[in-house]
Amino acid sequence: MEIILFGAPGVGKGTQAKILSSKLHIPHISTGDILRTAISKKTELGLKAKAIMDLGNLVPDDIMGGIIKDALNDPKSKNGFILDGFPRTIEQADILDKIFKELGITKAQLILITAEDELIIKRLSARRACNACGNIVNLNYLKDSKKCPACGSVDSFIKRKDDEVDIIKNRLKVFHQTTEPVLKYYENKSDLFVVDGTLPVDEVTRRIINSIEAKK
Ligand code: AP5
Ligand code: MG
Repeated sequence: MEIILFGAPGVGKGTQAKILSSKLHIPHISTGDILRTAISKKTELGLKAKAIMDLGNLVPDDIMGGIIKDALNDPKSKNGFILDGFPRTIEQADILDKIFKELGITKAQLILITAEDELIIKRLSARRACNACGNIVNLNYLKDSKKCPACGSVDSFIKRKDDEVDIIKNRLKVFHQTTEPVLKYYENKSDLFVVDGTLPVDEVTRRIINSIEAKK
């Protein structure tokens, strides 16, 4: 099963991808996570990507194409995958189309998660990651804003550099200008399921799963 999760920064792609990955037993491929890992390991890719990501701009298509080609050719992806954060440009959609043809993939499911920009800014300003276990939380919904509900660590939350308001606004601008037009590219190529990302996390998951089941 091949799933493309599509949507603006902060709509909940990563949150849903993690849940779907464990329910469907297929890997979650997040281009943002791959780049952040490269940055933390100070690889050549990480050094190139850091300045671009810190400003909320897009890493060049040729670099991203190489990353996704490797990820989809990995044996772990042979029974399917959940793509989170790719494609983000028409050029990337073309690259993905070519890789799908090579791999004989004909029926990827495109899932668009939606939310208004204003809500996204509120959400992303309050997003934190636990430095001890990697759990992603939101300070707007935590009972104890210092304690990780997954591992119990205290004072271990860190904020992504690109979750500052000015950078969030730039990421949204890039999304509307460059990434949103990719939806048109898929208009006649793929089934699109649209889900309201402002609903509670469980409800968003339930609707996505129902849509996937209906297409089996
Ligand atoms: P990336 O890491 O992909 O970031 P993004 O698209 O900006 O998306 P986010 O990770 O910010 O949001 P999300 O939709 O995953 O939301 P989340 O689930 O965390 O990319 C980062 C950068 O890398 C890019 O800016 C670019 O520079 C580069 N890059 C990556 N891919 C690239 C590509 N293909 N080409 C070029 N450059 C690329 O949720 C957000 C918050 O909301 C969390 O706190 C969560 O707890 C909360 N939340 C989630 N769902 C709900 C809900 N239903 N109700 C309430 N709260 C919720
Ligand atoms: Mg994410």
